[in-house]
Amino acid sequence: MKKIVLAYSGGLDTSVAIKWLKDKGYEVIAYMADVGQEKTTTAAIARAKKAGASKVVVKDLKKKFVTDYVWPALKAGAVYEGRYTLATALSRPCIAAEQVAVAHAEKATAVGHGCTGKGNDQVRFEVTIQALDSSLEILAPLREWEFKSRDEEIDYAIKHRIPIDVTKKSSYSIDKNVWGVSVESGVLENPNIEPPQDSFQWTRGAEKRNLKDRVVTIEFNKGIPVGLDGKKLGPLELIAKLNDTGAQYGIGRMDMIENRLVGIKSRETYEAPAATILMLAHADLESLVLDRELLHYKQGISQKYADLVYYGLWFTPMREALDAFVETTQKKVTGKVRVRLRKFSANIVGRTSPFSRYNENLATYTAKDTFDHRLAKGFIDLWALPYRK
Ligand code: ARG
Repeated sequence: MKKIVLAYSGGLDTSVAIKWLKDKGYEVIAYMADVGQEKTTTAAIARAKKAGASKVVVKDLKKKFVTDYVWPALKAGAVYEGRYTLATALSRPCIAAEQVAVAHAEKATAVGHGCTGKGNDQVRFEVTIQALDSSLEILAPLREWEFKSRDEEIDYAIKHRIPIDVTKKSSYSIDKNVWGVSVESGVLENPNIEPPQDSFQWTRGAEKRNLKDRVVTIEFNKGIPVGLDGKKLGPLELIAKLNDTGAQYGIGRMDMIENRLVGIKSRETYEAPAATILMLAHADLESLVLDRELLHYKQGISQKYADLVYYGLWFTPMREALDAFVETTQKKVTGKVRVRLRKFSANIVGRTSPFSRYNENLATYTAKDTFDHRLAKGFIDLWALPYRK
């Protein structure tokens, strides 16, 4: 019997997919990747078995996700279309790469996922799989199967005794990991309806909370966050703390119409408190330590990097080349940034670095000024030379 490793979330779609694939003649291994979905796995594992999986493999990828995917994206300043900090997009190559490893370990010849044919995630999964092992057969049951609605899927699940939790299902499609939450569907499909409170997963109720301003200090070492409020923290702890605090203030909420790779415009809301604060702080520290030309050039790289991540092109020579560039820019991105959190906003209020290029004697308008004002005239005349009339 052919063996398939199915990326399994524990939800209705992938539970039904197990049975569906089995009926197509595959032995199904359910593979669950933990990138911080905050879901309990015990019920999901039982469900996978009931649905017919011969084995369930659970991998904790949280640390790997942050160090190998999130930190490079932070260093690159990757934000898609100016707002989306790419939580979902970054997680896919991480999950799919491990899936290929599981397929090899289990001697499977096929891999599968539960993405639909309309989204970006199918692209991210399949480009990753093909880039790492193009001999693997790829199956995407949701693109092919006969069910035309959720109700039909539920009927199928009931008929085949697959335990499902229909009551808990919200009308939204939610994807969550340590770097952020992505929410779509339901009433959000009307781009002119304000996201209801129940669509918010982490920041719900922030508008009602009575909070005093608060300043957090983030410490970076070579572009990587290593400390919070004077305490050294590991990557997961640091992000979790900033997510907790930031979420209370409602920071990192985004409501956007975005351009999917498959040509559709979609309305998505995001919640990414830690990502938003860290991106802001990181960029600020760069503005202190990088010279103007490098800083400006890197802004173009940031956009390219974000597009590439969004388009599923993580495992490509281009991403490696961009990473190499970004890495050289981060040597001096070391220091501390203070961020003031107010309801729904985060603002930088101070920064220091041993590699600061800021020179107060040059910048000052006081008597301490050491800038030679007379030099400016010659500089401007030459600068203007090509344009003189
Ligand atoms: N639009 C986002 C992306 O393509 C998120 C997709 C997953 N979102 C979701 N709610 N299921 O990266």
